Amino acid sequence: MSYHFSRINKVKGELNLPGDKSISHRAVMFASMAEGNSVIKNLSNSADVYSTINCFKELGAKFKFEKDILIVEGTGYKNFKQPKNNLDAGNSGTTARLISGILAAQNFESTIVGDASLSVRPMKRIIEPLRLMGASIKCSTQFTLPLTFSPVRELVPIRYRLPVPSAQVKSAILLCGLHLDQVTTVVEKTPSRNHTELMLGLPLETVNGQVLIRSSKANYPKAGEYYVPSDFSSAAFFIVITLLSENSELIIKNVLLNESRTGLLTILKRMGASIEIVESHESSGEKFGDVKIQSSKLHNVEIDKSIIPNIIDEIPILAICGIFAEGKFVINGAKDLRFKESDRIAAICRNLKKTGLKITEFKDGFSIEGELTESNPTFESFGDHRIAMAFSILSTKLKEGGNIDDLECIKISNPNFIDQLESISE
Ligand code: S3P
Repeated sequence: MSYHFSRINKVKGELNLPGDKSISHRAVMFASMAEGNSVIKNLSNSADVYSTINCFKELGAKFKFEKDILIVEGTGYKNFKQPKNNLDAGNSGTTARLISGILAAQNFESTIVGDASLSVRPMKRIIEPLRLMGASIKCSTQFTLPLTFSPVRELVPIRYRLPVPSAQVKSAILLCGLHLDQVTTVVEKTPSRNHTELMLGLPLETVNGQVLIRSSKANYPKAGEYYVPSDFSSAAFFIVITLLSENSELIIKNVLLNESRTGLLTILKRMGASIEIVESHESSGEKFGDVKIQSSKLHNVEIDKSIIPNIIDEIPILAICGIFAEGKFVINGAKDLRFKESDRIAAICRNLKKTGLKITEFKDGFSIEGELTESNPTFESFGDHRIAMAFSILSTKLKEGGNIDDLECIKISNPNFIDQLESISE
């Protein structure tokens, strides 16, 4: 059933958002791997993170919520048990790819499956390096899920230069490396999000502009306490609606401000956005703070390809922002967007073509120019949470509003999106 969003003229107030999805996945994984009890505060309530929890339950970790704090009883080194069922990663690429690095090192057989979208996403990027490390992985001829891991015989350390900037690939290799006495090294030319290395305290070095990240058994996680700052990628939708609405001001509390994630803020500020960090803190190496956003008059700017990995999940909402900014919006060098929960380049272009705007699609991006003419259009979510939320925000900025054909998928990252939006709308 389609969902109608009416126009929102003004936003005001304060928002507290659940924990960051990327950090929550890792906190659940590392706490499950460690021996004994760990505590996770402000965990994401996204369906993706529940997929990770369910996979680790199958592997023998135990979970208990005390109010909104998650207590995890981890199994300790090589103490995971053989799962009775397939490990279901649902819609979550992070679950499937990161857990692969852990399963590759176990003494039992296991299989990862996923939903229809995840089952067509590329897995060759992790299968190749994990096979180089000695993993025995069966998969389809297309290198997609299901992936079946045989009991490991012998693992060897590798030095691997990432062919695509990807935190998921980097993390899969480093997590497998945690099961070896010798050192595994990942070399990154374009830095991707760095939560795995920060949270595990992995040694890193910068040589000739490249980052070398190392892992070995010495870095295997220990039980501890995690505080998860609020999700930057969820905050992005509310940042943009505030900038685009007149006489508006919003404060979003305790937002993750890790620089490998906040490329959107850098671009928006260059576009003329009034965004201020009013208070900042740090926990387990992750920066976070209160972000104050005010209505702004924006102009489009050139987006350098090197920043793409740091805005990859925010490109759909950045494109929406670009529609209302002066000049033409252009993005290039973002081919990996075609391999996300949907082909996001195709999804954005197809939806924007319904609005009267002039859209040009490239292999690795798109451009937007012209005027919004269509009233009350119906946008397709393609079952992709970030497409659904980006076009929900666009709908709230159209005179007659707009519709999303299927909004169910927003639960993948933020099940409370509608309530949060209503709470700040005037
Ligand atoms: C993520 C890494 C990114 C991002 C995804 C979450 C992570 O994927 O798009 O939503 O938590 O490591 P890639 O590694 O494929 O770029």
